[in-house]
Amino acid sequence: MNIISAKDYQDISLKASEFVIQTIKELDKPVLGLATGSTPEGLYKCLIDRNNEKQVSFQEVTTFNLDEYVGLTANHPNSYRYYMNEKLFQHIDISIENTHIPNGSAKDLEKECVAYEELIQQHNCIDLQILGIGHNGHIGFNEPGTSFTTRTHLVELAETTRKANARFFNSWEEVPSQAITTGIGTIMDSKQILLLVSGEDKAEALNRLLDGEISEEFPASVLKEHPNVTVIADEAALSKV
Ligand code: GLP
Repeated sequence: MNIISAKDYQDISLKASEFVIQTIKELDKPVLGLATGSTPEGLYKCLIDRNNEKQVSFQEVTTFNLDEYVGLTANHPNSYRYYMNEKLFQHIDISIENTHIPNGSAKDLEKECVAYEELIQQHNCIDLQILGIGHNGHIGFNEPGTSFTTRTHLVELAETTRKANARFFNSWEEVPSQAITTGIGTIMDSKQILLLVSGEDKAEALNRLLDGEISEEFPASVLKEHPNVTVIADEAALSKV
């Protein structure tokens, strides 16, 4: 893994945006894998700025998001579709039909998982997958214990993950208990992976990723088996390494 040290969150966002823009410029029809959560928000702001300054275009870009909550419609303010529209898509020159997010309110969720996985394969996999990491090492919504061979699937969210994400909801009851996520196998098929880690509260997880063993009990550890992973982390996140 290639580790890039950043000063702080702003610096991570800037460095990550340069990385993403370079990839977009290098490829003919780039396919990006996108993540949600707090970590990539700064990256998306930088991408919007660079797009507005006409330094990069998203007209030829296709995106696949990692995951979506089950039971939230696209216009629910806590759905990841809403997040992506608000924080990136509606501010850049991307065609909205080229943006893909699992449909968490599909009638047949299993069918939705299969269709989503197939769509990614039809696009010849993801060129650059952006990832954050959960405190328990989850990537996407692949919780500890998830097989490294999984494809897009339906998951029960861990209690700790629901707690970590409860800050976005009005009440505990509103926090979904299920999600659709691309699998670890799907993520590992990506040609390149960019993992962003920020803040002291992620220091333990980053230390375990870099120093610990490869185990399904810590999903992110699988990244050590991928040939092309870059980690951009700030000083706070690197403080326990
Ligand atoms: C969420 C998302 C992940 C994200 C992670 C970390 O549950 N499903 O894709 O990477 O948790 O989130 P944050 O960046 O807010 O710490």
